[in-house]
Order: sequence, then structure tokens, then C-alpha cells
Amino acid sequence: MGRVFSRVDHIGVAVEDLDAALELYERDYEMTLVHREVIEAQGVEAVLLDVGENHVELLAPLGPDTPVGKYLAKRGPGMHHVAYQVSDIDATLAALRDAGLRLIDEHPRDGIRDSRVAFLHPATAGGVLTEIVQPAKGH
Ligand code: CO
Repeated sequence: MGRVFSRVDHIGVAVEDLDAALELYERDYEMTLVHREVIEAQGVEAVLLDVGENHVELLAPLGPDTPVGKYLAKRGPGMHHVAYQVSDIDATLAALRDAGLRLIDEHPRDGIRDSRVAFLHPATAGGVLTEIVQPAKGH
């Protein structure tokens, strides 16, 4: 399948409160907030901050029964996932499935800023919840 991932797209961080977290990322780290969105498909409100050509994605759960809500209840705030950028998410997902990786998403779903995303299970991804993301054109 050649080079699977183009680059790191973002690091996903689970937070209890977006505005409180932004005091660290915007005020202290001086990162630029470029996007804020409720993503119903993932049960989160998310923000993207620029770090060079990459991003940090802060995720706050829409409720306790969402994946990120459960994650916070179990492990508290912190590193949640790593996202790699791909140019053809359907082909990459099929190749990773064929390679024997366990997929959380059999098909891509809606991600932040009109991207298409799919998650790989940490069990076959070295213990890391791993997202692959195909950005919308122009991003
Ligand atoms: Co993400």
C-alpha cells in the first residue's frame, strides 16, 4: 500500500471544559483557534488549534454516555487519540482492514471541518486509539 499516512494531522485531547482548556492552549501556548464545532456523530464539541501545519483537537463530551464522556469518567482528561492524514480514506481503510487491523469504523464518518474520519481500535494499533482523516478540500 506504499506510504500509508501523509503526516500527523492532529493530536486529540479529551477535556472536561473547552473554555477552561483554551486558557492553556490559546493563552499560555499562544496557539490560534481555527475552528469550533459540535460534531454529533462523535458526541463531542471540538476545537482545532493550529500548530504549524498540524493541529491539536480538544474534545469535550456532549454527555456522559458518549465515547469521550466515558473516557473522561474512566481515565480523566488527557491524550485521547492520534490522527494521521490520508488522501484516500476509503482505500486506506480497506488496506488496513486487509492487513488485519481492527476497525472501530467500518466506514468513514463525519469529522471536524467537513473531514471524513475513521477510528482504528487500540488493540491492534499498539495501544493507541488511532484516527485516519481525509481533510475536506481546501484544508
Ligand atoms: Co480527531
